[in-house]
Formats: sequence, structure tokens, C-alpha cells
Amino acid sequence: MLDPDVAAHYELGLEHSRLFIDGRARLEFVRTLELLTRLLPRPPARVLDVGGGTGVYALPLTELGYQVRVVEPIRSHIDDVETQASEPDLSGLSAVLGDARDLPENSDSYDAVLMLGPLYHLTERVDRVQAFREAARVTRPGGVVIAAGISRFASLIDGLKRQILSDPLFRSIVERDLQDGQHRNPDVTGHPEYFTTAYFHLPTELSEEAIEAGLTEPQMYAVEGPSWIVENIDDLDNQLFAARAVEQEPSLMAATSHFIVVGLAAPAQQS
Ligand SMILES: C[S@@+](CC[C@H](N)C(=O)[O-])C[C@H]1O[C@@H](n2cnc3c(N)ncnc32)[C@H](O)[C@@H]1O
Repeated sequence: MLDPDVAAHYELGLEHSRLFIDGRARLEFVRTLELLTRLLPRPPARVLDVGGGTGVYALPLTELGYQVRVVEPIRSHIDDVETQASEPDLSGLSAVLGDARDLPENSDSYDAVLMLGPLYHLTERVDRVQAFREAARVTRPGGVVIAAGISRFASLIDGLKRQILSDPLFRSIVERDLQDGQHRNPDVTGHPEYFTTAYFHLPTELSEEAIEAGLTEPQMYAVEGPSWIVENIDDLDNQLFAARAVEQEPSLMAATSHFIVVGLAAPAQQS
């Protein structure tokens, strides 16, 4: 069952434009896409995009020649993907209703699985490990799983940047984030920009969850890195330089907004 606050947040229909509204989001999009194209197997690999939203990464990956299937619990997100999939030359794109913890797909049927969203909306560790297990199950042996988390310190840094830490509502949300990573917004209707129910990881927690689910050789990458602290959309080149320069630096990993872990599905055991 999807958390009702999470469902209500995405049913607002904000997701299709989220990554194109400001410089921070543009940085997230450009960096995520560059990491995906670097870390995924070559096209025409089969990619399952779990929690793929409205297809924001599924669409450009399909255009690059990947065969991409989106799994989403939000009906309107599925509709958006299916509308795009009906365009000429996008027959490699498809979508299905489903949940990261119980994927409606066969074992070993994908070269790669993306989870760029579900993990931070699963607030219990047992559910996150289950989502990783499902990703590992549907990935062929030796294929890759790429999963995103939001940094424990993202709200604190964002609050400083946007000068909203003096708002008592936002301050209380940040204090809870710092305490235990549990992000709760008591006014999701009045302040959807303060996000919805989520869990904000420490970097080591994300890779430990991947390992517990059986993924091997986990590698962490900061998506925006420290670059998201400035909001200058005219300076994307320097932001990308800084993000790339320290993308795997462990001592800076929590300064990003999003990080990803990349793990391999275990090869079949020799008998
Ligand atoms: C912030 S959006 C990210 C969308 C896109 N992957 C991106 O990176 O921009 C989070 C997405 O995760 C989906 N989601 C939340 N909980 C999920 C779950 N338990 N299983 C699958 N998807 C889930 C939401 O419906 C939403 O589309």
C-alpha cells in the first residue's frame, strides 16, 4: 500500500514539470542523465524504471535506443508515459502499474533496473531492502541496479539556500530529518514544496541496504554534489565541473541533494 500522503503529493500532477522549473532541478536532471548513460549497459539494453514518474528519464533513454518499461503506482504517471509511448519511434517505451516491493515482472528479465524515487518514499528499512531484493530478482545475473537516495542533510542545506529555516514549519521538518531521517510534512496541501513523507539516507545506509539485498560491488555517486548549494542557472558548466570532480568523494557524499548507488545483480552460482 502506497502511503496516502505520498499518493496525494504525486496526484497534484507536479512531477512532469519538476525537473525543468529552476536551476537546481536542471542540474539534477543533467547529472542524473549523464550518470545513467555512463553506468548503464549499452543500448538496446532492457531497462526497468521503477518509480519512473512521468517518464522523465525513460523518454530520453528510449530515444537513445534503450527498451524502457516504467513501473509506477500513480495512474496519471502511467497515462503520461503511455501518451509519450504512442509517438512514432518510441515503441521501446511502455508502462505498468506496480510497486517497487512487488514488481510485476519475471526474474532475470532486465539488463538494468532504475529506482530513482521509490527508496526515499519507503520509510521502513525492511521495505527498502525488499525493493532492492525485487530489483535484484528481475535483473539478469551481472546486470546493474541503480538506486537513488536523498541526503539526510538535504533539507538543512535547502533551507539555508532558500532562506526558509526561520519558517517554524520548515524548521520543525528539518529538525526531525536531522534526528532520524524521517521527513514528514504536516501541511502537504499548503506547502507541497516542503515535499511529502520520505526517508532521507546517510550515504552508507543506502549501500548497506543494497548489499543486504544481495547486490555486489556497490559504488556511490553524488548526483548534484556541492554544486546545488548555489542556484545560478547561467553557470551550469562550472556546476557540472564541481559535481563531476567530487562525485565519488566519500567525505562530501552527504553534501549533495541526491546520491545513487550502483550495484551488480549476483552472477549465477557455479554448480
Ligand atoms: C520524485 S519522483 C521521481 C521520478 C523520477 N524517477 C525522477 O527521478 O525524476 C518519485 C516517484 O516514485 C514513485 N514511488 C513512490 N513510492 C513508490 C513505490 N513504493 N513503488 C514504486 N514507485 C514509487 C512515485 O510515484 C514517483 O513517481
